[in-house]
Amino acid sequence: MTHNKATLTYGDKTLELAVREGSIGPAVVDIGPLFRDTGMFTYDPGFVSTASCESKITYVDGDEGVLLYRGYPIEQLAFNGDFIETCYLLLYGELPTAAEKTEFDHQITRHTMIHEQMSRFFSGFRRDAHPMAVMVGTVGAMSAFYHDSLDLFDPKQRMVASLRMIAKMPTIAAMAYKYSIGQPFIYPLNSLDYSSNFLRMCFAVPAEDYVVNPILSRAIDRIFILHADHEQNASTSTVRLAGSSGANPFACIAAGIACLWGPAHGGANEAALNMLAEIGTVDRIPEYIARAKSKDNPFRLMGFGHRVYKSYDPRAKIMAETTHEVLNELGIGDDPLLEVAMELERIALTDEYFIERKLYPNIDFYSGIILKALGFPTSMFTVLFAVARTVGWIAQWKEMIEDPSQKIGRPRQLYTGAPQRDYTRLDDR
Ligand code: SDX
Repeated sequence: MTHNKATLTYGDKTLELAVREGSIGPAVVDIGPLFRDTGMFTYDPGFVSTASCESKITYVDGDEGVLLYRGYPIEQLAFNGDFIETCYLLLYGELPTAAEKTEFDHQITRHTMIHEQMSRFFSGFRRDAHPMAVMVGTVGAMSAFYHDSLDLFDPKQRMVASLRMIAKMPTIAAMAYKYSIGQPFIYPLNSLDYSSNFLRMCFAVPAEDYVVNPILSRAIDRIFILHADHEQNASTSTVRLAGSSGANPFACIAAGIACLWGPAHGGANEAALNMLAEIGTVDRIPEYIARAKSKDNPFRLMGFGHRVYKSYDPRAKIMAETTHEVLNELGIGDDPLLEVAMELERIALTDEYFIERKLYPNIDFYSGIILKALGFPTSMFTVLFAVARTVGWIAQWKEMIEDPSQKIGRPRQLYTGAPQRDYTRLDDR
């Protein structure tokens, strides 16, 4: 990597700052010495121009609509690989050999069951609790059960915790769904692959046999691949910040789940489907486009726009294609919501407001339609995002813990509050 300099001049001070080039993508200015040498901070709310870390895991080129997991294009992984292979790639940095994949799959499979006492957590929730609330609580509580994988500084315990998280998230997610509909929990069946096991835990009932539809299992597996990681997004940054304090991995993932829940982030898939359902018919689209453009209206087109992608989100393209595959397989034909979505996209992409701001559909725009077709209620959409993103969170957490230069994350601020003043007694106010 080449190193050169950037010069910052302020008043009578001039500071030379190192510039570091990555293997691909934007270079960075190392502002580490800034406060020490100038007494000033940088200011970047929302971290629009801030690299929080060095990473080798995922690369996003927002202008070109490129997403690489360890250098491999998302399109190639989504259409040629499977989720377990993608998990191995994100965790270890290379695609597994056949033997490595078999062993990794076996390791994951052997951790799919949760501690039997954990199932009692669910009865403590109201039946109508949002499944994301259940996920945050139950995943955080894993710290209370898996004491033999809490020591961050023991590589073996770190790996066991990683495998446990990846393996148990589908089980916990399926249990949250079953609890919400009053059906009994379905134990994992380890003869099934990861995604088939998940579909069975969600949709099987003890009263009858359940046969996994391979087209649907392939579709959910591809959806998991698309959602697996996305560099330093809000929830991943949350996991890294929580992990930087030395919090245990289960607590860090629970923090990531909490952040993902927001409608500006992973909660957008649920919000996007609710929006499409509210629009209802194509003739009502102009009204919603007008609302989305109005400065006086906080409404935004959910599933549209992205902090990084200023072109079409490559994952949205694959999601749209997979949606048609699943709807055709299920004989649903053209779901009215899909018709609204496609017309909304067509209109928005020709409208100056969206073109000027480079607002395109993102991964959340179509995902709700396919997840609804697979039989999931809207409230489960972000849960599925969390199931898939767990491997990305864990891989990024692991990379941070193993980085010898890592330290606790502790941003500063621009203070605009009251200067120091003296306390006044109540009688004097
Ligand atoms: C995910 O970061 C990641 O990688 C996230 C993610 C991942 O894999 O982890 O990709 C997953 O979170 C995808 C994004 C899902 N969220 C949504 O779909 C919610 C709707 N979209 C937005 O709220 C918004 O686009 C964000 C939050 C995604 C990005 O917001 P930014 O980058 O902070 O952009 P901004 O809010 O500054 O908007 C820039 C302009 C503004 O207009 P002006 O003030 O310049 O006039 O674009 C407008 C915004 O009002 N705008 C929208 C819009 N998104 C942005 N206007 C209407 N509808 C929208 N959806």
